[in-house]
Amino acid sequence: MNYLVTGGAGYIGSHTVKALIERGDDVTILDNFSTGHRWATQGQRIIEVDLRDLHLLRSALSGETFDGVFHFAAKSLVAESNQRPLFYYQNNVAGTANLLEVAIENNWMHFVFSSSAAVYGTPETALIAEDHSTLPINVYGKTKLAMEGMMQDVCAAQEFSAISLRYFNAAGAALDCSLGESHEPETHLIPNALKAASGSGQPLTIFGYDYPTPDGTCIRDYIHVEDLANAHLKAMDYVRNHQGFEVFNLGNGQGFSVKDVFSACERAAGKSIPHVLGDRRKGDPTSLVSDATKARKILAWEPLHTKLEGIVESAWAWETK
Ligand SMILES: NC(=O)c1ccc[n+]([C@@H]2O[C@H](COP(=O)([O-])OP(=O)(O)OC[C@H]3O[C@@H](n4cnc5c(N)ncnc54)[C@H](O)[C@@H]3O)[C@@H](O)[C@H]2O)c1
Repeated sequence: MNYLVTGGAGYIGSHTVKALIERGDDVTILDNFSTGHRWATQGQRIIEVDLRDLHLLRSALSGETFDGVFHFAAKSLVAESNQRPLFYYQNNVAGTANLLEVAIENNWMHFVFSSSAAVYGTPETALIAEDHSTLPINVYGKTKLAMEGMMQDVCAAQEFSAISLRYFNAAGAALDCSLGESHEPETHLIPNALKAASGSGQPLTIFGYDYPTPDGTCIRDYIHVEDLANAHLKAMDYVRNHQGFEVFNLGNGQGFSVKDVFSACERAAGKSIPHVLGDRRKGDPTSLVSDATKARKILAWEPLHTKLEGIVESAWAWETK
């Protein structure tokens, strides 16, 4: 099969490209390299274009044939999204409308889309399933929900099929150490803790230590990036055989506190990590843990790297490489 991967130079996109190549598919990466990296593209064919420019997008993709599209490209910094809402609506929502338009013109009718647990907002239940209410509390989450709505409407209007994958916290690195997480600025806990450990980053700030949890810190669900990549392959196989729109959570189904993660990072690094205790961040829910039963049942997906230790060790191997 021959796939287009938008955002294939980014963290999760590049790991998915790797998984596609390993199973023998052909891949073309579409990216504007705003946060992606050339080193992460592993010699794949690249179309360098910005999704916001419909004219350039159309001409860059004219005459191409793809069996499906993986759509990772988006901006995803929560604080930035609240400060620059129009930039986020332009990049994520308008960019997706352009991509859908060009895809339909070219008859690429199967989409797998990167959504986020941010669409749920403040959780009402300990485990969050797909039927949980969607009331995002930041602009980033609102753009993801708008992108989902757009795809759902397109699926209802014509013979188009799309799957939206709502990821919880992507973490870790390729086990062969060829790829890993590299964002600037980095806002994710594990890379920031490991950068503090290796001396290449600032001391880690733990945001909030008075939450109503056993150790006072927030609880999150971490899913290894290779497990996420595999879920995308299964989702594409599914969407190519099922018309319509479906949503799946992708998570570990287990919650780990910030302190659990911090201790796992200290064990992986074999040293104590410089850190400071900071105030709670606005809009950080106490706990966000997935119920990913639907993906397990319908996509026959099973995460393999569910232990926090293994996730953190792969990230440390990448950080020290
Ligand atoms: N990392 C996570 O934990 C997480 C969690 C939930 C959802 N997501 C979603 O998954 C996707 C991938 O996340 P990531 O962490 O790999 O992000 P990333 O920033 O590493 O990758 C995004 C890629 O998209 C490209 N891009 C962005 N805007 C573009 C545009 N207008 N035109 C062309 N290319 C563009 C960037 O250059 C980059 O290569 C995003 O949609 C993100 O919202 C990520």
